[in-house]
Amino acid sequence: MGKYAFIDQALDDLRKQGLYNTIRTIESSVGAWVIVEGKRALNMCSNNYLGFANDERLCTAAKDAIDGYGVGPGAVRSIAGTMSLHIELEKKLAAFKGTEAALSVQSGLNTNLATIPLLMGRDDVIFTDELNHASIIDGCRLTKAKRVIFPHRDADALRVLLEENKDIAKKLIVTDGVFSMDGDLAPLPEIVAAAEEYDAMVMVDDAHGEGVLGSHGRGIVDHFGLHGRVDIEAGTMSKAFGVMGGYVAGSADIVDYLRQRARPFLFSSAATPPDVAACIAAIDILQETDAPVRKLWSNADYFKKKMTALGFDTGHSDTPITPVMLGEAETAWNFSKRLFEEGVFATAIAFPTVPQGKARIRVMLSAAHSVSDLDFALEKFAQVGRELGVI
Ligand SMILES: Cc1ncc(COP(=O)(O)O)c(C=O)c1O
Repeated sequence: MGKYAFIDQALDDLRKQGLYNTIRTIESSVGAWVIVEGKRALNMCSNNYLGFANDERLCTAAKDAIDGYGVGPGAVRSIAGTMSLHIELEKKLAAFKGTEAALSVQSGLNTNLATIPLLMGRDDVIFTDELNHASIIDGCRLTKAKRVIFPHRDADALRVLLEENKDIAKKLIVTDGVFSMDGDLAPLPEIVAAAEEYDAMVMVDDAHGEGVLGSHGRGIVDHFGLHGRVDIEAGTMSKAFGVMGGYVAGSADIVDYLRQRARPFLFSSAATPPDVAACIAAIDILQETDAPVRKLWSNADYFKKKMTALGFDTGHSDTPITPVMLGEAETAWNFSKRLFEEGVFATAIAFPTVPQGKARIRVMLSAAHSVSDLDFALEKFAQVGRELGVI
């Protein structure tokens, strides 16, 4: 037995359980259509909500930034200085989100690793929704704080748990804004009301809300009119904004503290100049127009209505995330494989990402899709659905 036998064993187990993931290779930019392993396919699974991932304006901004600033930031910002581009992005993000300040970090995942362990310590308590994203879970794991998991979207249960822990002085409630596998929303107004009653901080991960919810895609806080009542908004530039990177938006004090002490900020280099410039271009577009957000929603409404009419179960999503519920993992894998053969790229999602027996294809609508793209997808979903006895 070699020293890597445990890895062979783990990989074997994954294959036996049907959980081994073979990732497809994309050979084009990410738009409504992509070239996947030599084949042109309709892209129904990326988080490119607004079609910005290959938008000409973002690409031009990125190229110009390379001409002006090169390709790399050189080192971490606190040691090697911060580029004016990063400062500009942070100012624009804060203005867009309606907060005092914002801090750019390298990814959405890093926002949670930066913020939660910095704010919470051994004597504190974190209340976290049972279906929160893995990066929130990891952020909580990096602290020594007590963790209290509340039932999914259950503000009444949260209130009971707050009462039970009311003697702990520092409290943080953390939740996804939009839950990525089902597209449902956190009951943020109820969570904020409970937090105010118990003097707890509230942090929302708006990864799937920004660019999607609120005026011009300002996110879930704007959607619910909760400006000034949510302490921390964490977000990503890798979904609706079409690029890469993360940010934390909140009060000037919180952002200043993060800039002084957050470990991903202090110990990992900054986002690259072309990434940052493309993010700035994305925000500029959204400040100017909400047309891409409206297009996204009209595409989502169109697709969901037609899928329901065809007899598909599309879950309980409140957003353009459209889970096509298929039950067993095998059905979902077969469905995805047949769709791909028919020219539609839509990945199956099964346990452990979603519960056993709740495998699905998660369709991600985009403003990049035309109505004829959606009709093509609907025709193929109907064809494969009938073939596999799903509808
Ligand atoms: C809720 C949530 N938070 C954070 C992330 C991570 O974002 P990023 O890809 O920018 O690291 C994701 C992406 O999967 C997410 O869905």
